[in-house]
Order: sequence, then C-alpha cells, then structure tokens
Amino acid sequence: MAQKVIAVYSTKGGVGKTTAAVNLAWEAAKEFRVLLWDLDPQGAATFLLQVKPKVKGGVAALVAGDSKVAGAIRSTGYDNLDVLPGDASYRDLDLVFDHAKKSEQRVSKILEQVEGDYDVVILDCPPGAALVAENAVFSAHAVVVPLVPSPLSMRSLEQVEGFVAASVSKAPVVGFLSMVDRRKTLHRATVEQLPGAHSSVTDVVVPATVQIERMGAERAPVGSYAPSAEAARAYGELWMRVKATVKPKARSRKH
Ligand SMILES: Nc1ncnc2c1ncn2[C@@H]1O[C@H](COP(=O)(O)OP(=O)(O)OP(=O)(O)O)[C@@H](O)[C@H]1O
Ligand SMILES: [Mg+2]
Repeated sequence: MAQKVIAVYSTKGGVGKTTAAVNLAWEAAKEFRVLLWDLDPQGAATFLLQVKPKVKGGVAALVAGDSKVAGAIRSTGYDNLDVLPGDASYRDLDLVFDHAKKSEQRVSKILEQVEGDYDVVILDCPPGAALVAENAVFSAHAVVVPLVPSPLSMRSLEQVEGFVAASVSKAPVVGFLSMVDRRKTLHRATVEQLPGAHSSVTDVVVPATVQIERMGAERAPVGSYAPSAEAARAYGELWMRVKATVKPKARSRKH
C-alpha cells in the first residue's frame, strides 16, 4: 500500500486519542494528502473538523462493499485534509465486521479504494472495541498511543503492544504522554522516567491545557488558532516522530 496508515489507539477511554488524531492529521496535511477516518460512532473527530456526520447507506454498506468509499469522504476547511465521517451507524461496526469475510481486513480493503488519493491515513479508534481495533492495527504502519500519567498507563501501553505483536502488521508503537499536569508529582515523575524506561515512548509531552479544551468550542485543530501554544508545538513534534517512523511519500497535491 502506497499510503501510510497511522492508527491512534488505546484500550483506555478518554486519554486524548481523538485530540491526537485531529491534530496529527492537521500537521500531516501541511505536507501530505491526508484522510482522517473517524471510526468512533460518537463522531468526535468528525465534529471537531466541522464535518457533517453521515455515511450514505451507513457503514454497513461500506464494509459490505455495496457503496464506494469515495462518495462518503468529505473535505474539511483545510487544504489536503479530508474526513471519512463517523456516525451512529458505527455503533454496530464490531458486529458488521464480524459478519464480513476476513473480518480483520475490512478497513484495509476499504482503504485500497482510495489508494492513490492519499499519502497518509489516520484512524481515530474508539476505546476497546476489539474487532475495530484489530482492523485498525492490521492496516497500520504505526500505532500511536496517548498515555495519561498514572500507574495504569504502563499497563495500557503493554496491552496495546501485546495486541500489535499478535497482529500480522507488527507496526511500531509510538507512545507519548498526554494531558500532563506538571503540578502533580506523579505526572512529573512519569515525564522523567517513562520515555527513558520504555523505548516505544517518545519524549513528546502534551500538557493538559485550556488551549486544547478550546478545541470543542473552536471546532478546529489547536495549531490553527493557537500555533505557538505548547500543546500545539507538542503535536507538531509528535507528527515529526510519527513521520520519521512511517516515512510517507508525498505525491502531487490537490490544491
Ligand atoms: N492536553 C489536553 N488538555 C486538556 N484537555 C484535553 C487534552 N487532551 C484531551 N483533552 C480533553 O479530554 C477529553 C477527552 O479527549 P479525547 O476525546 O481526545 O479522548 P479520547 O481518548 O479520544 O476519548 P474516547 O476514548 O472517548 O474516544 C476531551 O474533552 C478533550 O478536549
Ligand atoms: Mg475519541
């Protein structure tokens, strides 16, 4: 596959997956043609990029191969950044995949349809969701894992690593610290120790800030309205690490 697929995933909910997916997609779109696939029925990434949720015929038709993915893709207000929206029909995605042939390869198969259109595909995964995650990991060239400092964050990282090791993709895992509050002793200690102790955790630290919270009101990537904020720079840095890992190739851009 010419396009590079990046899955943003964790077994844990509410750790900053969607926030990372949207900001990484925006960073990547400065240089590459990017598709963000919102695999979450809640459609948070779709909302944050001001795209209308709704896949014609629902995702079931897409998975069954009855409808073409190109018709479901929406452009955003940003050059070279498109979204495959999530909507409520994704609630049953695990079930839909379960009934499909080679169920862990459906996402990969669907992406083959847009092979030449994008250099980078970012998958925003719901937490847990076994088969959706399996699909995302199967097609991934890298799995990005946000880690909120806590004694349990190592465990979720190890769960994801075990999951990836068991898949055929064996994609590299890129962990980073998310929602870091340096006023907390535990958070400071984790920032100092974790990246050094664990080779798959980068030293990129995304602070917990109001600038990120504002994304919900602005419905925009943080870098678009607060480019010099520490969190915006951290996502820029995170993209550089992910880019070095997957090495996307830019072809002719649309605009
Ligand atoms: N660095 C940050 N600083 C402050 N708030 C943040 C930060 N990162 C994420 N948040 C907020 O935390 C909440 C959860 O973030 P997000 O939706 O990205 O997590 P998620 O892992 O995708 O959640 P889910 O598992 O429900 O899909 C959101 O309201 C988001 O705005
Ligand atoms: Mg999410």
